[in-house]
Order: sequence, then C-alpha cells, then structure tokens
Amino acid sequence: MSDQNTIFSESLAVLRAEFEELPEKRQILRSKVFGDLTSQLRTLPPEERAAYGKALNDLKAEVQSWVDKSVDQQQVKSAIDVTAPMDNNASKPMLLPVTDGSIHPLMREVEYISDIAYRMGFNVEQSRYIDDDYHMFASLNFPEGHPARDDYDTFMTTDGFIAPAHTSTMQNRMLKKYKTNLDKDQPIAVIVPDRVFRNEDLDATHEHTFYQHEGIYVAKGVTVGHLKATLQAFLSEYFGQTLDSKIQPFYFPFTEPSFELAIQRPDSLKKGDTEADQWLELLGCGMIHPNVLKEADIDPNVYTGFAWGGGIDRLVMMKYGIEDVRHFESGKLEFLRQF
Ligand code: DAH
Repeated sequence: MSDQNTIFSESLAVLRAEFEELPEKRQILRSKVFGDLTSQLRTLPPEERAAYGKALNDLKAEVQSWVDKSVDQQQVKSAIDVTAPMDNNASKPMLLPVTDGSIHPLMREVEYISDIAYRMGFNVEQSRYIDDDYHMFASLNFPEGHPARDDYDTFMTTDGFIAPAHTSTMQNRMLKKYKTNLDKDQPIAVIVPDRVFRNEDLDATHEHTFYQHEGIYVAKGVTVGHLKATLQAFLSEYFGQTLDSKIQPFYFPFTEPSFELAIQRPDSLKKGDTEADQWLELLGCGMIHPNVLKEADIDPNVYTGFAWGGGIDRLVMMKYGIEDVRHFESGKLEFLRQF
C-alpha cells in the first residue's frame, strides 16, 4: 500500500501541474494520468484492487474539486464589461498541438536556402504578392512594348496591379534599400526567396504559383568571376558536395552580359553517361545592367554587381523525387505528411 501512496501522491503532483497549464480546466478530468492509473488497476492482485480503486476515486474527487472551484471563480468574474472592445472573460483560444502539423516542404527549402545565403553574408528579404508595372518591367530595363515582356505572362488586376512573375521585381527596392552600404564600403548582398505567379497551362512541371529566389550583389570591382564563384559555392553548399559549374550566354533585359548557369550533376541525382547528363541547368544570372543600377541611383561607373534568379520548387522536386509540381499547392495530407 505504501507503494500505492507514492503512486497517488506523484500522480496528484503531475495533475496539479497539468491543471495549472490548462486553459480549459475541465479537461484535466480527461488527463492521461487517470487512464494510466486505471490500466494499472487491472495488473494488481485481486486483494489489492479495492483499496487501489478507492484511492483512485479519492484522487478523482480531489481533482473534481479543483475544477468546481475554478468554474465558481470564473462565474464570479463573468460579469460583462460593456465598455470592453472584446469579451475579456473568454478563455484563451487554444492552439492546435504542433505535433499535428509539419513544415511545408517548400517552406523548409526556403529556410534552407536562406540559411546558406545568410551564412555567406546575404541579408534575407521577402517579396510581395502584388506589384506594379514599374517594378515588374520598367525598373528592370524592359521599356514599354519590349517583346521580352511577353516572357513574363502573369495576372493583372483591372486597375493595373501585377502578380509578380519573378522575384526580380524586388531588385530596384533592394538596391535602394541597401544603397547606403556602398557609402560605408560594404557590399549590397541580399537574397529574396518568395512566391511568384505566371499564367501557365498547368501540368506536372508548370504551376501558376511557385517559388523563386533572387540573389543580388553589388560592390566596387565585381566581375563575372565573382558571380560564378559565389553561385558555385552556394550550390555546392546546397547539395552538400563540391561541384563544378559552367555558364553559357543567354538573354535577360536586366543583365548584361546574361547567362544560364549549369552545375555538375550532384551524386544524389546521377543520371546517364552522356555529356548532357553530367550537367544540371539551374538558373538565370548575369551582371546587373547599368540601367538597372542607374534606376536605383547607383553609379554604374563606380559600382558593378551580379544577380541571379532560380526556381525553388524544382530543387525540392529533384531532392525528394516528387513527380508532379501540383502536389505542392494541392493541400493533400497524404502528400504533406511524408515530410
Ligand atoms: N527573373 C528571371 C526569370 O524568372 C531569372 C533571372 C535571370 C534573375 C537573371 C536574375 C538574373 O536576377 O540576373 O526568368
């Protein structure tokens, strides 16, 4: 019996601690402690069961008295203050237990990429989900009527606002925001991982809503060599393996020269043996066009910089062997629970 006394006094202490924490006091009566004690009853020799059962009932009665008292107290303070902007007698809202959720695989990748960039000295910033023609096009050296505008077909509100088709819409804002770094002889170094939108016909590799990350670096004397070395270091860290990279000429209005960057295919994603199989084309990049720097009041004769932009969904798809990009926004729990 002395063992049982210890069991019950320990249980009482656990219950008291739980009770103090609970926003809804009645829930204590459903505590796992009672369930555990009840299951122990079945394991006892028959002659001990009666005393054990009585002790359990006493325990329940004691806990019930705490509940009754707390309910009484609540009733005492439940007079309504008509001048309060909200019901200040309402109990605190209950949050769902964190064990019922998990981080979305895309958000996990956003965090992972941000963390690598941050460790490389980049600030991490967010984009926005509604923007204007100036940030989408004009500030990025797409003049009115320029055919390259057609490559970024996205959604527009009737009064002319735009759902950004790429994270490059943040370039002008970031250059302006961090311009004072240059006066202090520090670089502008920012990464913007966020959501973008395109008017796509949906299929396994095209979504109207997806994620990109934009990198921006400006200082004195920055060259294509810095661009290539930075991206190679960034992607090697990302894939956890030292990887070679190569750049090939491309065209973007906001960079001059512009490139497409491919990295050596990491071991985890090995394919066939042909030369093409050895490389993975990952992102667009280039030296920031002088007009883009000028638009942010940065003198391109003094400062140069590079920028890059790439998708995040595709990286996650490759990493986990996900066959259809539409899973990400589907909200399907069978899919999400795998992460
Ligand atoms: N914004 C481009 C796209 O979505 C990608 C890109 C290319 C971003 C070159 C850059 C860049 O910053 O320099 O197609």
